[in-house]
Formats: sequence, C-alpha cells, structure tokens
Amino acid sequence: MHDNPIIYWYLGEAGPEGAGLTTDSAVQCLSTEELRRFDQLRFPKRSYEWLLGRITAKTLLRRCVPELDGIEFRCLTIANHPQGAPYALLNGDPLPYPLSITHRAGLAAAAVTTSPGIGLGIDLEWVEERDASFYTDYFTPGESRVLTEVASGELASIGTLIWSAKEAMLKALGQGLRVDTRSVEVLRIGNISNQGWKELELMAPGMPDTLWHGYWRRVENHICTVVLIGAAGQPVLRKVDRVTGELL
Ligand SMILES: CC(C)(COP(=O)(O)OP(=O)(O)OC[C@H]1O[C@@H](n2cnc3c(N)ncnc32)[C@H](O)[C@@H]1OP(=O)(O)O)[C@@H](O)C(=O)NCCC(=O)NCCS
Repeated sequence: MHDNPIIYWYLGEAGPEGAGLTTDSAVQCLSTEELRRFDQLRFPKRSYEWLLGRITAKTLLRRCVPELDGIEFRCLTIANHPQGAPYALLNGDPLPYPLSITHRAGLAAAAVTTSPGIGLGIDLEWVEERDASFYTDYFTPGESRVLTEVASGELASIGTLIWSAKEAMLKALGQGLRVDTRSVEVLRIGNISNQGWKELELMAPGMPDTLWHGYWRRVENHICTVVLIGAAGQPVLRKVDRVTGELL
C-alpha cells in the first residue's frame, strides 16, 4: 500500500510584455544570487518570464511546504542544476522537494511535491499551428499517426498538447531538449476530467520499467501538462488558487 503523492501546482500571470512586474518586484522577491542572475539577462522577454517563474515557484512553495510558511521570498532561491532543472534553496540550503517551472506568453506555472523520489515536469505551451516538418522531426511515428486521425480544426491543439507532454516528460527526466524528443512518447490522450485535469498515457521505449503519470488541461489559449515519474500511488493534483491562495 503506497501513499498517494500530492502534486501542488500554481499558475502565475503577468500582463502583456510582463506588465505589472517591475524592477521593484525583482528587488522584493529575489535573493542576492537571483538578483545577480537577473541583472545578467539581456532580453526583456526572458527577464520577465524568468522573474515571473521565480515568483510563481516561491508563491507555491510558501503555500504548500509547511516549513516555508511566512518565509520572505528573498530567503528563497530558485537555482538550476547544470542541465537546467530547477531546485529551491532556503537561506542557501537546498530543499529536497521536486520542483518544476514553465513560462510562456504571460503565464507561468510551477509544480512541487513533498514526496521524495519523484521526477516532476510541468509545461505550458501556446496553442498554435506548426509546420508539418516540425511533427516529422520531433514526433514518433505513433504520435504522427494520432495527428493524421484528428479533424483539421483540432490539429493545432492536439499537436501542441503532444508537444507539451513530451517537454514535461523530458523535464521530469531532468533532461530537457538535450535528448531526442522521440525517446518519449504520448500513447493516448484521455478526455475524462478530474478536477480539470485529463489523463495521458505515456511511455519511453528505452525505459520500460519507468512508471509514468501524465495530465493535461486547457488554460485559455495555453495547454498545460504535468508529468510524474516514479510515483507508486495514484497522484492527487491540488491547485493553489491564484486569487485567494486557498488550496483546492
Ligand atoms: C527544458 C526545456 C525543455 C524547456 O522548454 P521551454 O518550453 O522552452 O521552456 P519552459 O518555460 O516550459 O521551461 C523552462 C524551465 O524549464 C526548466 N528546465 C530547464 N532545463 C531543464 C531540465 N533539463 N530538466 C528539467 N527542467 C528544466 C527551468 O526551470 C526553466 O526555467 P528557468 O530557466 O526560468 O528556471 C528546454 O528549454 C531545454 O531543454 N533547454 C535546454 C536545451 C536547449 O536549450 N536546447 C536548445 C533548443 S533545441
């Protein structure tokens, strides 16, 4: 009998071009190490997405990890492992909670779990048309076949959903796009909603023993996916409400 791991998630939002996020937001929310990194970011889009990602992750951590309740944002650092995967530190000491971040077109989302040993990936993608060559280059034959079966009006959303799930899988593995996107595969897209999340059936042909759980939902014109590896029990996804901060 295994505990059901709880995955907490939170969606942060900035106005167009990062409106609402100022240098003051950075000074108030970032640790000294993060401010140093922030000052090195050259492109405004990257700066505000990076900042929104940090604020989103810290809001989530403070709400869901009891020992972080009431901690000042500046005491928390969201750093990246050499391969890019994020992790949190409190006053310079790494916290053991698997964490994932995504930012895209004015939205950022973060997911965290206090269950150890889980690989976690969250991804947000803007639903858009892609050239056929994109699917040929990055999708498995099985995923390409799924696309040939969808109505033409749904191609952009299903293509985006599969792409997002693949990115979330690669994040859960801690790899990102350094590895071949065809090494992970979306087998089936579920449509039955549980608290807004629908299931995905996933696999990686080269990792037959890996236990995957995948979920997706539509958020305005974005698709959001969450992927876990190594969760023995059935995961439960709990949202931190953007307005009230309540755990739903
Ligand atoms: C990880 C990756 C798949 C994210 O894709 P994306 O859709 O562009 O960006 P998202 O906003 O969804 O995610 C970005 C976050 O992913 C996280 N991330 C980056 N590398 C990661 C990795 N190896 N494992 C897990 N998470 C990772 C980071 O937290 C990053 O945000 P931050 O830099 O602000 O901390 C992709 O950026 C990547 O693999 N990058 C490294 C390789 C690369 O740059 N290749 C060139 C393009 S082919």
